[in-house]
Amino acid sequence: MKTLESSRCRKMLLAVACAAPMGLAAAEPTDATRDITAIMKSAFEDKRQATLDRLDQDETQKLCTEARDQALPAVVAKKIAEINLATVKPPADGQYLGDWQNGEVIANTGTGLQSSDDPAKPNGGNCYACHELSPTEMAYGTLGPSLKHYGKLRGQDPAVLAYAWSMVYNSNSYAPCSNMPRFGHRGILTEQQLKDVMAFLFDPASPVNQ
Ligand code: HEC
Repeated sequence: MKTLESSRCRKMLLAVACAAPMGLAAAEPTDATRDITAIMKSAFEDKRQATLDRLDQDETQKLCTEARDQALPAVVAKKIAEINLATVKPPADGQYLGDWQNGEVIANTGTGLQSSDDPAKPNGGNCYACHELSPTEMAYGTLGPSLKHYGKLRGQDPAVLAYAWSMVYNSNSYAPCSNMPRFGHRGILTEQQLKDVMAFLFDPASPVNQ
């Protein structure tokens, strides 16, 4: 048992799971991680807006990579949620909901940020790649939960709106190591676009709530 525990401990990466008093900083990358990163950097090149600095992980991504083969330790999950919640900027005018019709277009648009995309055009949110939203859209992915009837089911209590805003702004604020892009934090969607997808989720007139 002891051996198992300690090898598990090693796997969970010393700085994170086994040396809590030393803090929760992401551990130094292993040799294998360094080799893989070097191979990726040599195999790809900057192409227009798609630049290689995308391979550089921030602290959240490092912590999630370290824990990828096991359940995320609670203490690390808490730290990731804290770091990411601190990045969430509420809308400057306090209004969470924009134009649902534009939000629908954003949810359905899968372009933006790739080398072949026109950087002058607004980025899409590609929400349907992972979520069911409007019942009239038949093509959707299931990596994320269904968001059908989202506003109808949850209402518009300020706490509900603030939570949903935080999830779309930076999913790791409430779902540490989520696969959902951190749309606001990473500058994928603008504040206005975030408001528009929020309206698509919450507006009683939005097809999501029919
Ligand atoms: C790559 C997949 C992916 C994409 C793209 C994506 N999401 Fe998500 N989303 C998820 C996953 C997975 C979850 C569940 C949280 C978790 O466990 O990671 C989630 C959770 C959510 C939640 C919280 C649901 C709840 O239970 O309250 C909202 C709201 C949401 N997504 C909205 C959006 C919107 C709006 C877009 C587009 C702008 C979007 N998502 C794009 C994967 C995705």
